[in-house]
Amino acid sequence: MHNGQPFRLEDGGTFSFRHGVLHAGGLAVDELAGAAGTPLYLYVLDAVEVAYRRLERAFRPGRILYSVKANGNLALLRRLVAIEAGFDVVSGGELLRAGGRPDRIVFAGVGKTAAELAPAVRCGVVLHVESADELAALQAVAAGLRGRARFGLRVNPDVEAGLHPYLRTGHHQTKFGLPVRTAVELYRRVAAGGFPDLDPVGVHVHAGSQLADPGDLAAGARVALGVLEAGRRFGLPLDRVDVGGGLPVDYDGGTVPSAEEFAAVLAPLVAGARAELEVEPGRFLVARAGALVAKVLAVKPSPGGRAVVVDTGMHHLIRPALYQARHRVVPVRLGRPTGPGWLVGPICESADVLASGVPLPDLATGDLVAVLDAGAYGMAMASNYNGQPRPAEVVVTDGEALMTRRRETWEDLLAWESGPARRLPVGVPAGGHASVAVYGAPEAKRLMPSSPPPDPAQPRAGPPRAGDLLGDSSGRLG
Ligand code: LLP
Repeated sequence: MHNGQPFRLEDGGTFSFRHGVLHAGGLAVDELAGAAGTPLYLYVLDAVEVAYRRLERAFRPGRILYSVKANGNLALLRRLVAIEAGFDVVSGGELLRAGGRPDRIVFAGVGKTAAELAPAVRCGVVLHVESADELAALQAVAAGLRGRARFGLRVNPDVEAGLHPYLRTGHHQTKFGLPVRTAVELYRRVAAGGFPDLDPVGVHVHAGSQLADPGDLAAGARVALGVLEAGRRFGLPLDRVDVGGGLPVDYDGGTVPSAEEFAAVLAPLVAGARAELEVEPGRFLVARAGALVAKVLAVKPSPGGRAVVVDTGMHHLIRPALYQARHRVVPVRLGRPTGPGWLVGPICESADVLASGVPLPDLATGDLVAVLDAGAYGMAMASNYNGQPRPAEVVVTDGEALMTRRRETWEDLLAWESGPARRLPVGVPAGGHASVAVYGAPEAKRLMPSSPPPDPAQPRAGPPRAGDLLGDSSGRLG
């Protein structure tokens, strides 16, 4: 389907067909799905490293700070730590995951709590501050800890960039960053001693995501550099310019500018500014390294073409529903193309369509399909909507497959509500637990084992029990 050619993938690419079977990093995807079950997120770590090295070369001597929000898989992050990547995090939870040297971590985000600021200050990461109130909160946290906090202001560059309204984060009508005038005024107050425990180090900007034009990244950088100069005129030692992320990925066979083209427009701007450059790619490093593998549950005719119902959907990959994003869909075993169809999930929402009007082969129940380019903002945005467990994550590295995150079980979904309810000290005397043990219907738990039932291929003695028929949480029937 790429460029109008059904199921053609680049030879020897991260995902490619060998003898008619989809391979990921050299391993057969049908075997991976057999071993790990479906639905399944697969990430090829060598591909992440190749993309990282490419950016490192293109933006040298700039630093590459991987934007953890795109994919926080711990094995993937460990691989990036090993090759000395830095990180862009946006929450305490991401800070905890990121690892590596704190001086290579920046902490952005439009709303940070004191509980998030404190560990960030303690470990010495640079905070990207998005409001005057946040600057005051940071000052209070640093003073309370008798420490110092390094920070840069995030400026809103007012750039109309990004292909979808939700990806336009650099426009003045979005919630992100500070208007230029406010940022300059804040740096004036910092220089005047208004924030005695804070050390300003630079300026941050993010023009948008999936940028279609290198000029947008340059426009953002120009705004940041203007604020940097203004801060320096107040005597502040600002020497970092962080231009954010946004490097695009070619999802649908169109053309997007290359990373090198983005680097080329930045180089002269930054060279003249005597500032260290930081870039925060998320998608570019991981999108193409990942796929979501699913099993066909049913195929039914519909007015819009064949509807292929799979065991994953918008709850595991929300990008098509939320941004009308297009992802390539390929069969795991090549079959005869039989025309367009849609790939739909089990969720009770009409928006639960992973792809529509895409060429699909002659699929039947039990066949496998892969949704490609799903390594960024896939699992990271997955939910348990409709009571659905989230997929397992498998990384392929050095010719081996490792399940680094197990599939969630039905039991897991009850875990947050198990045990006695805690009575809150509101309106009644404080303390203690309610006497009723509440949640998680006990009969259902008895009937639904969280461990997989015996292999369906093995004959079983005796009549089936209800638990066997319900199968495991991957939807396999016993
Ligand atoms: N830095 C900042 C400050 C950001 O806000 C973002 C993304 C990035 C870096 C990384 O951007 P990237 O290089 O991945 O484009 N869920 C959407 C993308 C939202 C991105 C939000 N911010 C999607 O699935 O397309």
